[in-house]
Amino acid sequence: MNILLLGSGGREHALAWKIAQSKKVEQLYIAPGNAGTANVGHNVALKADDFEGIKQFVLDNGIDMVVVGPEDPLVKGVYDFFKNDALLKGIPVIGPSRQGAVLEGSKDFAKGFMQRHGIPTAAYRTFTGETLDEGLKFLETLKAPYVLKADGLCAGKGVLILPTLDEARKELKEMLGGMFGSASSSVVIEEFLSGIECSVFVLTDGCHYKILPEAKDYKRIGEHDTGLNTGGMGSVSPVPFATPEWMKKVEDRIIRPTVEGLAEEGIDYKGFIFFGLINVNGDPMVIEYNVRMGDPETESVMLRIKSDLVDLLEGVAHGNLDQCTLEIDDRSAVCVMLVSGGYPEAYEKGFPITGIDEVTDSIVFHAGTALKDGQVVTNGGRVIAVSSYGKDKEEALKQSFSQAQKIQFEKKYFRSDIGQDL
Ligand code: AMP
Ligand code: GLY
Repeated sequence: MNILLLGSGGREHALAWKIAQSKKVEQLYIAPGNAGTANVGHNVALKADDFEGIKQFVLDNGIDMVVVGPEDPLVKGVYDFFKNDALLKGIPVIGPSRQGAVLEGSKDFAKGFMQRHGIPTAAYRTFTGETLDEGLKFLETLKAPYVLKADGLCAGKGVLILPTLDEARKELKEMLGGMFGSASSSVVIEEFLSGIECSVFVLTDGCHYKILPEAKDYKRIGEHDTGLNTGGMGSVSPVPFATPEWMKKVEDRIIRPTVEGLAEEGIDYKGFIFFGLINVNGDPMVIEYNVRMGDPETESVMLRIKSDLVDLLEGVAHGNLDQCTLEIDDRSAVCVMLVSGGYPEAYEKGFPITGIDEVTDSIVFHAGTALKDGQVVTNGGRVIAVSSYGKDKEEALKQSFSQAQKIQFEKKYFRSDIGQDL
């Protein structure tokens, strides 16, 4: 098979690494990829949302399957683009339809979906510029802290958690006034939930599903969860509180009702579902849905999948995922993200990266890297994920931290407390 993977981050390098291990794969292409994906497949100079360019490439190169890494092409309808094209419609796209991608693309839709299907989530209401006064009154009925969410995609910046009513009122006005452009023309206000978060991943063919290993990610830039939110500074799998009993609650209350709810609503969904969960006194609740794998969760989750991922993806495409086996590695897997100094605010790019070849017994996934005159250089905020196995998370983390020391670039930073809260 020839597979085209869309995307360019650490998640895509980890997916490419896993896909490339399949005996079924002849050629793996990554569009646009990064300096790391070039080691496991062929990078293609196409943006993940250049649908016409992708079409031409798929037809010219005999692509048999397209796997979508990030949400953006999904929200823009890459699945539908293939389905509605006479030449492309036989080529499966792993990822939901545009309608399915709305689970991530609109917080209001996601909340309504959960309400319709009895899926546990924080109480909420949605407001627009016209209902601002009602929104301000609604805030008064809630207790601090206040959670405001822009309805649309804001590259992870659209959620504000505010300690006082005054700040919440001020921010609500600003959000509805265009703070995030049209993405915040509707704002979800919801109850604050207190607990530890956990990311649960499912592959579904629209009818059957397989639950992949869960992971915890570390979103804040500073140690002990301080400072600004980032895309994620590291991940750990498994998550100790995700016991079989807890995961049974997740499956019964959240996963099954979601997959059945999508089918009931006639939403075409063949791909990954990412459940952002929070453990509230032993009960899982949904914070958000994403319609893709997590980053940096994928950089630990892929290590724990023993089965051929391409077999599973074929099961998704053909609607017989129930016939596939998913074998999970009992070991722990973790990743520690090396980032550019300054991230998630302004940072410089283009610093040479050295020492990658000296890494032993860990897997180096590139996130924001590029090749410049044959030299790997930094090309993003999150630069490299150092992923490792261990008999437990302590052993895996010790390994990742020791190897993280070997990789050097100017202003390198990483969190040395990943996994220590668990
Ligand atoms: P989201 O983009 O919806 O995942 O929100 C970003 C982050 O905000 C989440 O990962 C949580 O840490 C936090 N968050 C979102 N909603 C809530 C909530 N209702 N209660 C507490 N924290 C929340
Ligand atoms: N790690 C969180 C995300 O991928 O959205």
